[in-house]
Formats: sequence, C-alpha cells, structure tokens
Amino acid sequence: MKLLVTGGAGFIGSMFVRRRMAARPDEKLIVLDALTYAGNLASLAQVKGFEFVHGDICDQPLVERTLAEHQIDAIVHFAAESHVDRSILGPMAFARTNLMGTATLLECARRGGVKRFLHISTDEVYGDLGPNDAPFSEQTPIAPRSPYSASKAGSDHLVRAYFETYGFPTLITRCSNNYGPYQFPEKFIPHMILNALSDTPLPIYGDGQNIRDWIHVEDHCAAVERVLEAGRPGEVYNIGGRAERPNLEIARAILEALGKPESLLKFVTDRLGHDRRYAIDDRKIERELGWSCARRLDEGLAATVKWYQTNDEWCRQVRSGEYRKWVTLNYDNRDGT
Ligand code: NAD
Ligand code: TYD
Repeated sequence: MKLLVTGGAGFIGSMFVRRRMAARPDEKLIVLDALTYAGNLASLAQVKGFEFVHGDICDQPLVERTLAEHQIDAIVHFAAESHVDRSILGPMAFARTNLMGTATLLECARRGGVKRFLHISTDEVYGDLGPNDAPFSEQTPIAPRSPYSASKAGSDHLVRAYFETYGFPTLITRCSNNYGPYQFPEKFIPHMILNALSDTPLPIYGDGQNIRDWIHVEDHCAAVERVLEAGRPGEVYNIGGRAERPNLEIARAILEALGKPESLLKFVTDRLGHDRRYAIDDRKIERELGWSCARRLDEGLAATVKWYQTNDEWCRQVRSGEYRKWVTLNYDNRDGT
C-alpha cells in the first residue's frame, strides 16, 4: 500500500509513522505536513524510510501533485489545528485547515482515485456530557461547542458526504483525549509535567472537575491501524481509553509521581465554553475489529512522566522555540523571503 499521512510531524501522526515504519519498513509512506508550530521533525528523527513533503493540505496543486507522483492508494488524515484554547483566540485558522484543508484533500483524493481515506476526528464533535449521561456512541448527535470541535465536526460532515454522494471510500475515527511522548506542551498533561518539573504553578481551569477520558497515543494509533486495515467504508468508529478522570486528579498524580508539592496547583479563570465531561462508548470497534485499549492509565501516565523527564533536549527545544529553526533554515528562506 502507498500511504499518505497528513500531519505526520504532529503528536499522534508521528507516533503512527514511528509504529508503521517499525512494523513495515518496506511500505511506501509519505508524510505531508505544513510544519506549523505543532509540527516537529525531531519527533521523526529516529525513523528511516519515509518521504517528507513540506506543504499545506489547503494547497490543491501541491496535494494533487503529491497524490499523482507517489501513486497514493490510501490516506490517513491527521493534519489539523488541534488545540481548543487556540481556537478560542483565533478560530479562522481552524476553519481554514480543518474545513478547507479536509475539503481540498477529499476532492483531490476522489479525483485521484485514492482507494481508502481515513479521517482522524475527535470525540469533541459530540459536545459535552453531564455527570450521569451515557458515554458518546457513534449514534450520538453531533453537537460541537468550541471553534475547534465545530471545525472538526464540519470536516466529519464533508467526509460523510463524500461517501454518500460519490461512494468515495471514507472512514472516520473519533478518539478521546490522547497523552504520551512527543505531545506539544500546550496540552494538559505535558503542560502539567513540564511545569511541575520546573517548579512553575500548574494552571487548573475552573474547579478542576472537568472530566476527560484518557488514552495512550500508542493505543489510539493501534486502533487507527485496525480501522485502516479492516474498517467498513462509510462507518464511524469511536476510540476511547475507558479511563475517565477529573483534571485535578491527573494533576495531583503528576505531582505525586514527581515528588512535587500540591501547593504548585493554581486554580485559574475557566476556559470559555469549557466542555464538562467526555466519555466514549467504544464497543463497536471492539466488537467489529477486535481492538481494545491495552494500556492502563496509571502505567501510561507514569511512563509519560518519565519520558518528559528523560527527553529534556526535545522538551528544551520545544519550549525555547529552537525546534522552529529547522523550518526557518530549510523552508522559510528558500525563496529569499
Ligand atoms: P498536533 O497539533 O500535534 O499535530 C497536527 C499536525 O498537523 C502538525 O504536524 C501540523 O504541522 C500539521 N498541520 C497543521 N495544519 C496543517 C496544514 N494546513 N497542512 C498540513 N499540515 C498541517 O495534533 P495531534 O494532537 O497530533 O492530533 C492529530 C489529529 O488527531 C487531529 O486531527 C486531531 O483533531 C485528532 N485528535 C487529537 C486528539 C488529542 O488528544 N490530541 C484526540 C482525538 C483526535
Ligand atoms: P486539553 O489538553 O487542552 O484538551 P481538550 O480541551 O481538547 O480536552 O485540556 C484537557 C483538559 O484540561 C480540559 O478540561 C482543559 C484542562 N486544562 C487545564 O485545566 N489547564 C491547562 O493548562 C490546560 C492546557 C488544560
């Protein structure tokens, strides 16, 4: 299979590429990534054998050329603007990449005869839950509440429309909150770990009782591979960690793992429109494709804390902005601009 992975230099995409290339070193795999602030080729530094195309999924000629040149059979589409707080501050980038980018990719892929299009979505498209509500199933109506989740929901609708209208073989996965190595430290868990390591206060939004269902990024990627292999076109598959926790409990566990005091916890002004609870019913993927989450949250979290402790060079470069130097040297100056 000739595979195009969009967003392969991001947190989840890079885990997918690392796993895939380790398991199938002879497969042709192309990463298409714009290297926004969230893209980091250092996350792929140990991986050999893939080809990298630096480009924007909104750039139709580039996408067309990439699909044709490499005779792509299948696309796994991770590329997105992915952080809720940023979507509140600047929603237009989310509309552009998540909606227009996905539309561009779909249209080029359909015209280019791509045989399988796996769209990586999120549980956040379902909105939020009260404490006693049943977890989100694939039948739960879409009801996004942030510009991020609304733009992802829009992209899901486009993907579904391409299946219904053109019979284009699409698949959608909707996963809960990921954690693990190489996650950009604007997200909750790495943010808490790095602040704790540097004895900086840990900002807890609101009362810290918002609940997320945490899944290790390797478990998510294993599920994505199963759907790519055996998922039924036109279908949606929820993916979850069956590990609902309030944010405060996670922050406390991180402090404890690092031997840091609870006095580092700092309650701050809540996020606008902050979703209260996410929970996932992932029985469909278990029943149909035999996937279930393998890692326990306490073990995965301990390993993740250790990873951030021992990979201080990756963390230092990300925090200082030095990781952007590579992009500047290789691309930003290439036209003398
Ligand atoms: P990320 O922000 O770490 O990475 C996104 C990647 O996409 C980066 O490498 C970035 O450079 C690239 N990108 C952004 N805009 C682009 C564009 N216009 N053209 C080409 N590349 C572009 O995100 P992530 O956390 O790895 O998430 C990957 C996907 O998984 C997203 O679609 C996200 O919605 C979804 N998802 C994430 C989570 C989570 O907890 N992080 C959970 C469920 C689903
Ligand atoms: P985040 O990692 O941004 O993921 P999402 O909003 O997509 O679920 O945040 C996870 C939870 O942690 C969310 O309830 C917001 C909260 N949070 C904090 O309390 N403090 C922080 O500094 C961050 C980044 C998030």
